[in-house]
Amino acid sequence: MKFEKHIICIGAGYVGGPTMAMIAYKCPRYKVTVVDTNHERIARWNSDELPIYEPGLDEIIAATRGKNLFFSTDIERGIKEAKIIFVSVNTPTKTFGTGSGMAPDLQFWEKTARQIRDNAESDKIIVEKSTFPVRTAFAMERILSATKTGVHFDIVSNPEFLAEGTAIADLETPDRVLVGSHETPGGLRARDEMVEIFLNWVPREKILTTNIWSSELSKLVANAFLAQRISSINSFTELCEKTEADITEVARAVGLDHRIGGTYLNAGIGFGGSCFKKDILSLVYLCRHYGLDEVADYWEGVVKINEYQKERFVLGILNAMFDTLAGKRICLFGFAFKANTGDTRESPAIYITKRLCEERAELVITDPRALQNAEKDLEDIKGTVIYKNDPYDAAVSCDAVAVLTEWSLYRELDYKKIYRVMNKPAFIFDGRNILNHEKLFAIGFNVYPVGKPPMKHF
Ligand code: NAD
Ligand code: UGA
Repeated sequence: MKFEKHIICIGAGYVGGPTMAMIAYKCPRYKVTVVDTNHERIARWNSDELPIYEPGLDEIIAATRGKNLFFSTDIERGIKEAKIIFVSVNTPTKTFGTGSGMAPDLQFWEKTARQIRDNAESDKIIVEKSTFPVRTAFAMERILSATKTGVHFDIVSNPEFLAEGTAIADLETPDRVLVGSHETPGGLRARDEMVEIFLNWVPREKILTTNIWSSELSKLVANAFLAQRISSINSFTELCEKTEADITEVARAVGLDHRIGGTYLNAGIGFGGSCFKKDILSLVYLCRHYGLDEVADYWEGVVKINEYQKERFVLGILNAMFDTLAGKRICLFGFAFKANTGDTRESPAIYITKRLCEERAELVITDPRALQNAEKDLEDIKGTVIYKNDPYDAAVSCDAVAVLTEWSLYRELDYKKIYRVMNKPAFIFDGRNILNHEKLFAIGFNVYPVGKPPMKHF
């Protein structure tokens, strides 16, 4: 079959895989190839056991793989064949040298840019899909044009706004698609080509075109705003606990103001995930680079409150359980950073588990999708943690249950049965406020939600 467009995506991760699968699904006339240096990951994309869990993804892959969607490790061939190259490599926080712990590590996209330049034999559109600091396109252009091959590259920014767990719905009906380009004839042509792809399923009024720097910056600002809402609501949980106000009631009362809105106001143990913290720190680093210390301090506060919230949760457990956890068995319900994903990157559960271990608690972890990743994350405390698939099993002989991920299955468990097999007094720390606290209290539990007064039998 002759395809109308050839697209490749470099980076077959949580973004590259689902976004390209959606393009292939909605545009059967395009050939889409996803490439990666990680052979194991590509092998899993080509198998029945995909490397990531995302509701609805299996069906879309089944409909497209081998027809117009391909996964491969042959990056050079992919670059030669495609007219449009999405770059969706990881941009984690740097762990060495200047900017360590703050700046994004840009080595992966840099290598990619060089590889594109060295293998391209015809003009290409390069699409920034990864989240980059504003003005990354400037550096990318310098690298791409550093040797004179006669090949021309146009760079566009097309940041991704999907959230894990709802990626397929987010991709299918996005709030908006953002395409940033230069206002040059080449830039505008590249922009139009991008718009044409998305018009296959996204209404024109939802496709926003801007200048390239606005697009790069908008992605960081969007994540900063979302994370800021979570830190804002979490910052009031302690005040609620001290004053007998209820954070759920407060969030509802506040969120009903249409200017504020009701989403992203669920209080809990703090946000996790691979991006919020890294992107805010990247923004903070950038602001400091430009000498904008007040702005940097303001946004750094969002991350600080988040760290504080995780520690506060641990101290709350310690304090409620008579100031000692040594030898007590605590069962953690959930390890993923949010429900409906197996992803544990920056999950608050990692910090909480390690801190509880420091207090010499014995830990049992259960999660429907994330146990494999949990084992990798907790490699350094191997042997001190037990993993159980079944939550009823996990709770046996425990002194406390702590809900760390808002999986809906935890709402539906038979807590009478769980109470019976636990040590007494039995505690529940609902780190996501998803359980029926009155019911649990009536069963006999001492119940500790976040941002609400505890319900205790003593
Ligand atoms: P990921 O780590 O899951 O995937 C990145 C992939 O890139 C890895 O498989 C890695 O092997 C591959 N890679 C790295 N260097 C490469 C190279 N030189 N050549 C070929 N492959 C290479 O990361 P992710 O979660 O998909 O995130 C990718 C980017 O998208 C990040 O910038 C992130 O901030 C952004 N983003 C992520 C999400 C999300 O929900 N995870 C949402 C929006 C934006
Ligand atoms: C987030 C953004 O929502 C996406 O738009 C963005 O594309 C993505 O980051 C990214 O750039 O990587 P994601 O991290 O996958 O998506 O998931 P979210 O649903 O935003 O949740 C992030 C964290 O915040 C989770 O730990 C979640 O439990 C927590 N959260 C979320 C709360 O504690 N309260 C809330 O009200 C909402």
